Amino acid sequence: DGAQRGPRIEAALSELGDSVVVLGHNYQRREIVEHADFVGDSYGLSKRAAEADADYVIFGGVTFMAESADIITDDEQTVILPSMEASCPMAGMAEALQVDAAWAEITGAAPDAEIIPITYMNSYADLKAFCAAQGGLVCTSSNAHRAFEWALDRGDKILFLPDKHLGENTAHRLGMEASIAEWDPWDPEGKDAAEVAKRDIVLWEGYCQVHERFRESHIEQVREEYEGASVIVHPECRREVVEAADRAGSTAEIRETIEEAEPGETWAIGTEIHLTNHLRRWYPEVNVVPLCGDACMDCNAMRQIDPNYLTWVLEELVAGRERNVIEVAPEEKELAGVALERMLEV
Ligand code: 13P
Ligand code: SF4
Repeated sequence: DGAQRGPRIEAALSELGDSVVVLGHNYQRREIVEHADFVGDSYGLSKRAAEADADYVIFGGVTFMAESADIITDDEQTVILPSMEASCPMAGMAEALQVDAAWAEITGAAPDAEIIPITYMNSYADLKAFCAAQGGLVCTSSNAHRAFEWALDRGDKILFLPDKHLGENTAHRLGMEASIAEWDPWDPEGKDAAEVAKRDIVLWEGYCQVHERFRESHIEQVREEYEGASVIVHPECRREVVEAADRAGSTAEIRETIEEAEPGETWAIGTEIHLTNHLRRWYPEVNVVPLCGDACMDCNAMRQIDPNYLTWVLEELVAGRERNVIEVAPEEKELAGVALERMLEV
């Protein structure tokens, strides 16, 4: 009975007291964010995880976020993901073994170049460790441009994984769109070594299946429907969508934009629908509308965390049982931690 979950979650949380902190990503359901101690974007959540002194970090988010929390927190702290099914498909689009093979081909195509790999936070710990080992780092959507600058200070080419759209949008922001080559590991013809040797930014063929569905036509429609509407989108959207929008930013930047909007302004939001719905609730004085109707922009990975699972992991902790612990293998933890620390410093 979903209606009973709220009081049961609260009862378990009060029983557990300061031993538990609940972190919630902006895309989590209302029933999860309402119980979170902190709600934010990937960058903000990783900072909160680093600062947390609770014994247990309960992560309302997806696997790669919980892994990052495990890497960043102390060894005595335990990270729990309420559902093990919450896996971001984009993170699965660049597997470390596959990247290893690509790395050999790419470095072979440009033997004189110093190539720095950057992985988006939306990736697994083994890929983060790989990037650190090759002199690279991690970034999120709020600091990708700074990570690019960091890398270009140290090398002359970037391999960016796994989100080609964030990579392209960042290259464009830095005026480097002419320097892009693409690398499609699934297509025998999509790996153009000659192009890689000529260009400065190599983009892996990965994408978010939620954000890829936004189109320029959605922006045209919303501007026709709501006179004077402004549009903000997430930088995982296609480049033409980001360019047609008034602004682009991480989920925290989207929230800040609405927080700072004047009462009565209309803002269309091009991102996962749960955040749009939270914004409507949190800032009722602003006219917040979804960029593409209510229907299609739901992240299936994020929605795996439901109140039943949150209730279960918390009540199990009260009973002294740890469930759904996320633990990164020790051999990856240290190097992946280096990649994350470089990001936090950048
Ligand atoms: P943010 O870093 O902007 O929170 O985004 C995470 C994410 O998964 C977007 O799809
Ligand atoms: Fe992954 Fe996209 Fe979901 Fe973000 S919205 S967690 S990138 S599938």
